[in-house]
Amino acid sequence: MATVKEVLLSMDYGPAPEANDHVKAWLAKHKEGLRHYIGGAFVPSSGGGTFEVRDPAHDTVLARVADGTPADVDAAVAAARKAFTRWSKLSGHQRARHLYALARLVQKRERFLAVLESMDNGKPIRESRDIDVPLVARHFYHHAGWAELVDVEFPEHVPVGVCGQIIPWNFPLLMLAWKIGPALAAGNTVVLKPAEFTPLTALAFAEICREAGLPPGVVNILTGDGATGAALVAHTGVDKIAFTGSTEVGRMIREATAGTGKKLTLELGGKSPFVVFEDADLDAAVEGVVDAIWFNQGQVCCAGSRLLVQEGVAPRFYDKLRARMETLRIGDPLDKSTDIGAIVAPVQLQRIRELVAKGQAEGATLWQPKTQVPTSGCFFPPSLFTEVEPASTIAEVEIFGPVAVSMTFRTPNEAVDLANNTRYGLAASIWSENINRALALAAQVKAGVVWINCTNLFDAAAGFGGYRESGFGREGGREGLAEYLVHPSEKNAPAKSDTPAFVPSALPSDPSASESRGIDRTAKMYIGGKQARPDGGNSYTVRGAAGSVGQAGLGNRKDVRNAVEAAAKATAWSAATAHNRAQVLYYVAENLASRASEFEGRLSAMTGCASDAAANEVSLAVRRMFWCAAWADKFDSAVHATRTSNITLAMYEPWGVMGVACPDEAPLLAFVSLVMPAIAMGNRVVAIPSSPHPLAATDLYQVFDTSDVPDGVVNIVTGERDVLAKTLAEHDEVAAVWYFGSRNGSTMVEKAAAGNIKSTWVNHGNVRNWSEAGQDRSFLHRATQVKNIWVPYGE
Ligand code: NAI
Repeated sequence: MATVKEVLLSMDYGPAPEANDHVKAWLAKHKEGLRHYIGGAFVPSSGGGTFEVRDPAHDTVLARVADGTPADVDAAVAAARKAFTRWSKLSGHQRARHLYALARLVQKRERFLAVLESMDNGKPIRESRDIDVPLVARHFYHHAGWAELVDVEFPEHVPVGVCGQIIPWNFPLLMLAWKIGPALAAGNTVVLKPAEFTPLTALAFAEICREAGLPPGVVNILTGDGATGAALVAHTGVDKIAFTGSTEVGRMIREATAGTGKKLTLELGGKSPFVVFEDADLDAAVEGVVDAIWFNQGQVCCAGSRLLVQEGVAPRFYDKLRARMETLRIGDPLDKSTDIGAIVAPVQLQRIRELVAKGQAEGATLWQPKTQVPTSGCFFPPSLFTEVEPASTIAEVEIFGPVAVSMTFRTPNEAVDLANNTRYGLAASIWSENINRALALAAQVKAGVVWINCTNLFDAAAGFGGYRESGFGREGGREGLAEYLVHPSEKNAPAKSDTPAFVPSALPSDPSASESRGIDRTAKMYIGGKQARPDGGNSYTVRGAAGSVGQAGLGNRKDVRNAVEAAAKATAWSAATAHNRAQVLYYVAENLASRASEFEGRLSAMTGCASDAAANEVSLAVRRMFWCAAWADKFDSAVHATRTSNITLAMYEPWGVMGVACPDEAPLLAFVSLVMPAIAMGNRVVAIPSSPHPLAATDLYQVFDTSDVPDGVVNIVTGERDVLAKTLAEHDEVAAVWYFGSRNGSTMVEKAAAGNIKSTWVNHGNVRNWSEAGQDRSFLHRATQVKNIWVPYGE
């Protein structure tokens, strides 16, 4: 070992290894193999199969674990179901005590868990010790609090049931805590499947559950690979799937769960922008990049992997960044002065190498420091690509390694365009000393988490999750807890049988006939604030109790596309003040009320309902409009209590363009109940009215026209609901779809929505009583997504 004098002369780092004897002893105790944790017992795989778990830094075998079979999934789900009955009936306080016990035990084992995590995953001990494991304890404490409060804070809500939870390998124990904490607090039981590369801390956590006296079956841990995960997703005894991992697998899970009634949250990939303005504190921003893309070897879903640097400071910024990169130390994860540890597995290392080679082949400039990289084990040096084309592979694809790709921009508008030039929308980091500019960009960037002058901050009190193909749903905070609760009316399984959907029969247009009559009685569609004839020129007869009551346009894909285009252009509505939106909604209500008798007549003629029922429906529709107008400026965002010297804003934002397919029952009231909250929250809507009873909705466009509703905010396309809804669900510009129709139509919409991972709300063929269950806050929640903006303050 070097003497003190020698060290002072060279200023080299000496070795600073973290002892791992206790972990080695634990692994030796389990050398016969680690088992699943089911119903409070450790059990082998029913098939007897096991697989190896390796240390990626040293390429050694750490343990063997059970390979989960479908029979194991059955057993784990049965154990969770059995435990659910009692666990969900415990008082919040009793559940809080259990979660508190878990938090305490995690804290007592912090060193053990951190070392085990670093050995299993390859991440530096500095990160597992100082970030991952303390955050794990924090999550259990925070959710012990939610267990205590959930009954009061979420009245009329119940736990979802048995939750299947599938997690990745990049933050194995932290992802477990993100999933198990809120699930248990809300009264659910879980079957969790860790990633095949990194199952060890989850099994150590199973021991903690046992020691903490958690009732058997409340937490079940099942090891295995993608096939085990797929069996869990497919299991009919599971009420909810919560998944974190790749967008590809997320899309498969969306398709697999379509039509099953399973609740779903997806936390998927990202290609998050890291924007440096010329007025940024460049030294701080350089440290930000280190935390953004070299933290956890860049294997972070929200890694700031796309640097966008304002042109004027780019050369200076890159010089500083390269100088900093030269100081990064790569090596043994258990060395306390290691900055960059091992990549999780050879297959991931290979993937990184291939993508880096592709970046070079596509003409980008690669720079790597001269830092020594270990010659054995899975290591990759920190890397910076400059001269990257926005359309190149490395600018688009998640590399999931320590590789930053960089582009320059000139104006703030160009920064917004580049930042949003991705199919993902998980996170963004913005660096500027001008808080106005930073917040303006934060509002425009499409991402679920925005860090201003900071990056990769996480806390149990703040929601985390993505926009667009980064998934839907949030983890953490109030919004994360809500994902594990359900209103009893929404807990319905799909309807037992399906009613056949109404299929309108096309009538070719006959202009001469209408000319000769002098009146064309076909109700027009409404697109971009204009009455529109259907693209195909066809219409269909709308039949009432006493025969035909008119005709409606038979819309096709082109009509839907035109309507989406019109809605996409109406961005001013989303940017309007809430007060302005409220004013417009009140005005719509006023104008509907003044034409009440006309609408009542239309409803009676169309549906055959009695005149007092029609009057009631119109009156309720007016009232609902008032309700939406009232909420437009009261659905307040929140400030989360994360850490000191930080404001974490949980902002409700509209989806943007929404598709809304309306049911056949209460054709006016249901239309209003769905479309109005959506626009009250700032969305622009393409609405499909009831196919057999579309005329009350088409009459509404005259009301919209006379009520200052801007063009394109509400678009109405009539025709066959399921045909039109499919086009909406497949459309990449549509961010969320609500579908109220048949069971089969619900399945179709959920499947079609997998394309761009859009959020859906479907009724699975269950008829809703729109008079009684047509307005509550859940409509507003479903019309928005939460963006968490972290703003630190102080010097
Ligand atoms: P993955 O998405 O395949 O694995 C994540 C989890 O899903 C694991 O537990 C796995 O066993 C499970 N899984 C795999 N196939 C499944 C299926 N059909 N049904 C249910 N569960 C299934 O990710 P993988 O292959 O480990 O990594 C591939 C790429 O995915 C990475 O290079 C990275 O780009 C991305 N990724 C993103 C993560 C994120 O947090 N956003 C995490 C892990 C990977």
